[in-house]
Amino acid sequence: MQLQDVTHVENIRFGDENSVIIIDQTKLPNETVYLTLTTPRQMYDAIYLLQVRGAPAIGIFAAYALSVLANRIEAVDFDTFYAKLRELGAYLDASRPTAVNLHRMVTRMLNTALAHQTESLAAVRQALHEEAIAIRDEDIDMCRRISEFGLSLLHDGDGVLTHCNAGPLATSRYGTGQGPFFLAKEKGVKLHIYCDETRPLLQGARLTSYELQRAGIPCTLICDNMASLVMKQGKVQACMVGCDRVALNGDAANKIGTSGVAILAKYYGIPFYVLGPSTTIDFTCETGDDIVIEERKPSEIREMFYAKPMALPEVACFNPAFDVTEHTLITGIVTERGICRAPYRESFAKLFPEYFEKKT
Ligand code: MRU
Repeated sequence: MQLQDVTHVENIRFGDENSVIIIDQTKLPNETVYLTLTTPRQMYDAIYLLQVRGAPAIGIFAAYALSVLANRIEAVDFDTFYAKLRELGAYLDASRPTAVNLHRMVTRMLNTALAHQTESLAAVRQALHEEAIAIRDEDIDMCRRISEFGLSLLHDGDGVLTHCNAGPLATSRYGTGQGPFFLAKEKGVKLHIYCDETRPLLQGARLTSYELQRAGIPCTLICDNMASLVMKQGKVQACMVGCDRVALNGDAANKIGTSGVAILAKYYGIPFYVLGPSTTIDFTCETGDDIVIEERKPSEIREMFYAKPMALPEVACFNPAFDVTEHTLITGIVTERGICRAPYRESFAKLFPEYFEKKT
């Protein structure tokens, strides 16, 4: 396969004024298929079916989706327009519960419409279009900064273990949990990445090892149950992962299996870093106990990505999509404004005071 600068692939973009185009992440790495989405149902399904996935990416996608759907709302006055937009926002927001970015970007788009309510509907639609692009551009900037801070924690020659996919496909560019690896490549810092395959949906195998391989970054794919061995063998000097929702006490929800990696890292004395933009910190959520964990279909465990089902159809399965890594297991949370350390609430308040200011 030819090397390609995957950090600059546009995974979400506008088509015409009624469509959003995405790379179908479920088809990678075997095929690069672009989907042109026009209806609310197609857009909801794209998020639910993980055709577009990764916390920042689904937030960006929802903003693009609302922007194009707004072009087709039939209304002559703002109130009718806004009621319909709010309905569409609630519909998309219901597609996946754990990543807070989705809810925050839907809310941001609705607030944008409200901020322009005294203007013409054409002006409101234009503002929504510009806001969606701003959300994407801000994410590009945040990912770059996170990657810089993340890379400052690594050394030339390090082995780094990662879980799931938090690279360019899951964001807008570079990525979060895997952003430092792409930046290292640009700067000539040599790293070796161990990618957990990430059962059951194999984001690590299908997406992360694909992105790294195409970028020419040395990587080794391992099954999830091999992480302990590579740590014991001294091949891993740090763990870096993304996140879907971070609570104020530093508890961090990420792909199922992440907390197991953190527990192993603690046992072997390896630093464990969570990387994510402030759009993934839920400043209204006190602890990980308040985070809703998405539960997905048993068929994803029994048959998806297998040539033949590997369990009887009647076998019961439990398929939580995320788990919460306790803050006590996390060495640092890397954001676009710097690296937060325990106690996390105080550390977040220092870097993001605007979310802690008392409203009078
Ligand atoms: O179910 P997914 O594939 O959307 O889960 C994604 C993850 O858990 C990622 O690690 C997280 O969203 C961070 S993406 C920068």
